This record gives sequence, C-alpha cells and structure tokens, in this order.
Amino acid sequence: AHHEHGLGSVSHTDLHDHSPTGVSCEAITAKETGGPTRSFDMTAARTTLQLDNGQTVEAWTFNGSAPGPELRVIEGDRVVVTLHNKDIKEGITLHWHGINVPCSQDGVAGVTQDAVHPGEQFTYTFIASAPGTYWYHSHQMSSVQAKKGLLGSIIVEPRESAATLSPAKEVNALYQRLDSSLLLNGSSKGLDVPAQAGEQVRLRLTNGDNETMNFSVDGAPFQIIAMDGRDLHEPGLLKDVTVPVGAGGRYDLLIRLPESGKVIVRNQSFEGLSMTLGSGSMPERADARTMFSFAEYGTPQEGDPLPTLKPDRNFVLKLGQSLFVKTINGHAFHEIPPMSVKEGELVSITLVHEGGGDHPFHIHGHTFRVMSRNGLPLKGSPIYLDTLLLKNGESYEVQLKADNPGLWMAHCHNLGHASLGMTMMMNYE
Ligand code: C2O
Ligand code: CU
Repeated sequence: AHHEHGLGSVSHTDLHDHSPTGVSCEAITAKETGGPTRSFDMTAARTTLQLDNGQTVEAWTFNGSAPGPELRVIEGDRVVVTLHNKDIKEGITLHWHGINVPCSQDGVAGVTQDAVHPGEQFTYTFIASAPGTYWYHSHQMSSVQAKKGLLGSIIVEPRESAATLSPAKEVNALYQRLDSSLLLNGSSKGLDVPAQAGEQVRLRLTNGDNETMNFSVDGAPFQIIAMDGRDLHEPGLLKDVTVPVGAGGRYDLLIRLPESGKVIVRNQSFEGLSMTLGSGSMPERADARTMFSFAEYGTPQEGDPLPTLKPDRNFVLKLGQSLFVKTINGHAFHEIPPMSVKEGELVSITLVHEGGGDHPFHIHGHTFRVMSRNGLPLKGSPIYLDTLLLKNGESYEVQLKADNPGLWMAHCHNLGHASLGMTMMMNYE
C-alpha cells in the first residue's frame, strides 16, 4: 500500500487503506452478454503539452493527450481496457464514472484495487450495459489527478441506433480544467461544428471541471434528451433557459438547425468556450432566461411503480461544512459511518444542502432515481442520475436499488470538496 497524502489535515487519497469495514469487492462478475469484446490500451505518462493558448503544461496524459482518447463502444459490448503506468510515481487508476461496473472494476485506489504504479498494469473488464454519455478519470487522489489531465470520455452507443432512429450528427464536448486552463476537448478555443440547415445535432456535454457550468442556446429551441447518459421520457422543446451542468454531470442536447443562421451553445461561465453549430447569420442573444429544472420536464412514464414503493432503508445526508472541512452530517469522511444496505433493498437517500457551495453528489456503482425536490414529487419524466447537483438550500430524495454488491464510494464531485471530507462509503452488509 502506498500513502500519498499532503492534501491538508484530511488525508484523503481516495481512501487509501481506509476501507472502514475491511469488506473488499468480489471478483470480476461481468456476465457474458454475447456482445463482442472491444479492447483498449491506455498508457499514462508524464507529458509536456503545448496548449493552444500558449501555455506549456506539465500534464499527465493517457496515450499522450489530455483529455485521453474518446472510447466508443456499443451497448452490450464487453469492454477490456488495459491501463499501463509509465512514470507517474503517485500511482493511478481508472474509474468509469456513471457506468455500473462490478465493484472490483470500479477503479477506486485503496478500496477496489491498489493504485497502479510505474511499470505496472491493470486490466479492467466490464459490460457496457446501458447506452449513454459517460467519462473516465483516475481515482487516485482524484482532485489532483483529474486536473493533471487523467480523464476522458467514454460513449456507449445504443445497439439499435443506426437503422431505427433518425440520424443526428453527434458532437462530444468534454470540459476539463488542466492545471489552470479550462479546456473544451483539449482546446482553449470554442468549438465550430459544421452542420446543414435542418440537420439535427446531438451535443454530448460533460463537465469534467469542479465548478457548475451554465449553458444556454441561442438561435433554436432545443431538447434535453438525456441526463447522465440516461434518456428522458418525451422531453419537450426548451427556449430561453439556462441549463446548469454540475461537476461530473452530463447533459445531451438535441438541436435542430434553423433554415438560416447558426446556433450558439453558450457556455455562460466561460464564453470563450462556447460552441457554434452551422453557418450563416449570428442568432440573437436571448436575455430573459429562467433556470432549467428537470422537476417538471418531460412526461411521466405510464404504469411507473417506483414512486409508490416503500423503501427498505432511509438515509439523510446533510452536505455542509465546518471550519476546515466539507462535511456529511457534520463529519468529514473518516468519521462518517457508511450507509449499510442489503442486496436487493430499495434505498432512499435524502440529500440536504446546508451550505458550502454547489455540491454535485455522486454515487458509485448505482444509478439512482430522483423522487422529489424540496419535498415536492417530480412531475415530469423519470430522472435517473449518477451525479445530482445540489444548490444552496435544496433538498432531494433519491432512491436506488442495491443491486450491485460491494463497497462503494459516494462523494461530492467538486473533487476539492471530496478531498476535504465530503466522501463516504456505501457498504453491503
Ligand atoms: Cu467521477 Cu468517485 O468519481
Ligand atoms: Cu461539494
């Protein structure tokens, strides 16, 4: 075991050897689905990168770039990724953010595996069972290593897509903070997407930074068709709304280009990193914008049983802060008792924001359903997430089915907050 502390009084190194219960994960349980195997090799190395804003960054890269390669697979594929560490002495891992892999493949250093040290390798195997927009990042001292560049996109395409759905042009847009530079797909400049009038563009937005990003769309109404990779049910057209994407979260937008003119997808927080779709005249900038809320977006699914089921377990997690730490129920992670659940249980978790900035709360290994916001049941589409953005004063009830045994992390995806204590475990008894 290797200790690499130095993050302040709370020595969070993604729970190096701090497994509170000593429970370890089960061996690989990826079941065969008959899908083909897709193999990747990823080599992490220290690299000097020249950014297009003139900066030179001592980055840590996968296969020479930051972000690392975009991994594309198809639903049902067996994904095999061999991670090599060339020379990053702190050790590294790969965590598949949002993909419900077997616990042994979850890539949390000190919990599900030891960090991979220089000259070593580790092979991850899992089934890409659900289509969607996901990402990967090292989960060894995440708050440091994500900013060094050890992250990238993994897209799981639906098996049925090509023939049956109307084709949409796809654009992947991954935001990351590399050292002090905010980048979009590795560039400090905005993205220009050539597209024809009338064409549909599916924009996969991933926030790999630690702060919430606000987006708006000028020039065309649009739909939010997926959140955290999971499709929404009958999402309606939106106009003049601001869409807040929390750290770690993903939003897929579907935009149809108007007959004349372009569409600007504005990153309100960093205007220089906006996206321009199509060509022609500049659209007008909408000024009156309301904040998008998924609580009433889309339509409910008929015959949806979940809202009426009684949970087997109920937890309340209050996200806040005290002097030097970010806390859950008043404690920093060493002192936070794990949520203990039994396999098969329906688990209710009420998350309460009690100060300290935005808290995008992420749960490993499980997709949760958002049941209510500020005490009011959701009225629109069922919303399934892996990372829920909580803003000042908000509270949400989420539910999940404990169907993926192991010892799982749950933490704020402002990784600075996570390293300052807002981290805990969910454990199967
Ligand atoms: Cu995206 Cu525990 O991480
Ligand atoms: Cu936080």
